[in-house]
Amino acid sequence: MTYRRGEPSRRPVPHSVGGMRVLVTGGAGFIGSAVVDTLSARGHEVVVLDVRPPGPDERRPWVVADVRDPAAVESALAGVDAVCHQAAKVGLGKDFADAPDYVSRNDLGTAVLLAAMASAGVRDLVLAGSMVVYGEGRYECGRHGVVRPGPRAEADLRAGRFEPGCPRCGDALGPGLVGEDAPTDPRNVYATTKLAQEHLASAWARATGGRAVSLRYHNVYGPGMPRDTPYAGVASFFRSALARGEAPRVFEDGRQRRDFVHVHDVAAANALALEAMGDRPSDACVAYNTGSGDPHTVGEMAHALAAAYGGPMPVVTGEYRLGDVRHITADPARLRAELGWRAEVGFEEGMTEFAKAELG
Ligand SMILES: NC(=O)c1ccc[n+]([C@@H]2O[C@H](COP(=O)([O-])OP(=O)(O)OC[C@H]3O[C@@H](n4cnc5c(N)ncnc54)[C@H](O)[C@@H]3O)[C@@H](O)[C@H]2O)c1
Ligand SMILES: [Zn+2]
Repeated sequence: MTYRRGEPSRRPVPHSVGGMRVLVTGGAGFIGSAVVDTLSARGHEVVVLDVRPPGPDERRPWVVADVRDPAAVESALAGVDAVCHQAAKVGLGKDFADAPDYVSRNDLGTAVLLAAMASAGVRDLVLAGSMVVYGEGRYECGRHGVVRPGPRAEADLRAGRFEPGCPRCGDALGPGLVGEDAPTDPRNVYATTKLAQEHLASAWARATGGRAVSLRYHNVYGPGMPRDTPYAGVASFFRSALARGEAPRVFEDGRQRRDFVHVHDVAAANALALEAMGDRPSDACVAYNTGSGDPHTVGEMAHALAAAYGGPMPVVTGEYRLGDVRHITADPARLRAELGWRAEVGFEEGMTEFAKAELG
């Protein structure tokens, strides 16, 4: 089965849910546009707010504005029941000079949005969270149990020692699935801004009696994924390389583990979270890992994409980026148990489709 942008998900629409009017910020983006399509297909009315203009065939209400513009946000909120906040500056960026723009767009932007929601009396928020808030994933040492390795030293990376060791004894560690209650440890500016968004949402919920959910997305991929830029995800780099006839260049030794989750599954998680808002307690922001629960290495992902594309096959380069974590894989049990969500697009199926999909 193949998926295209605009195609509704296979999930049945619950009959009990009346149509809501939802403001989707960042609704022109990779994930936001999939959320918009899924919400529309499930009978909700969608208002988009994005700095990018709508496509020529767009019929939904669309506010071309920056989320930091209080007047524009206020008008976009008219008659809205809930907000799905996807707008953000994403990726690792070029260098530290990007920091003010990340903080401004992601944190000032969220604060302006929440303040406008507080005045408009809009009480329900679903936030595009991220697994980057955890830093390194979960690790166990044979002697010391669950441990938290710090950032990897550049000297180790340069020498090809990619696996973090036990911070107490230096032994090799076994990676596991991270749960939502793991301590947060953002390792770069973007990660810091994503964590601050959650803290702002919690503060807003307490102050206003609002209800907030943060869906901590893992590595989202699928049709419409942005092309390679300093802000794109690894699947996009590989896909763009293949399109140029080049071999995907896999950093480190290719054994770093990630959870690749399809954009349609992420869009469905947003819809389920919005539809279940009425059942949750106010005054809190609750986090949910939004990952497939089926980890793969970056090398496996490159291999699956290249094979489905018809080559060239990936090369493992030993390059590294400071600030990248070694392994980060999700335990989506809470999302399954509380929202009845599960990933429907499997790794092989999704990568085979993505190898042929159009990029954004
Ligand atoms: N792609 C992933 O793997 C991933 C993983 C974890 C979290 N996320 C989060 O998901 C959300 C969506 O990411 P994406 O991958 O779709 O990125 P994207 O860049 O495709 O989409 C972001 C959208 O937000 C808009 N935008 C940015 N700043 C804005 C502003 N100040 N005002 C109004 N609109 C603005 C952009 O124009 C764009 O359309 C982000 O919050 C991101 O942090 C993404
Ligand atoms: Zn140890």
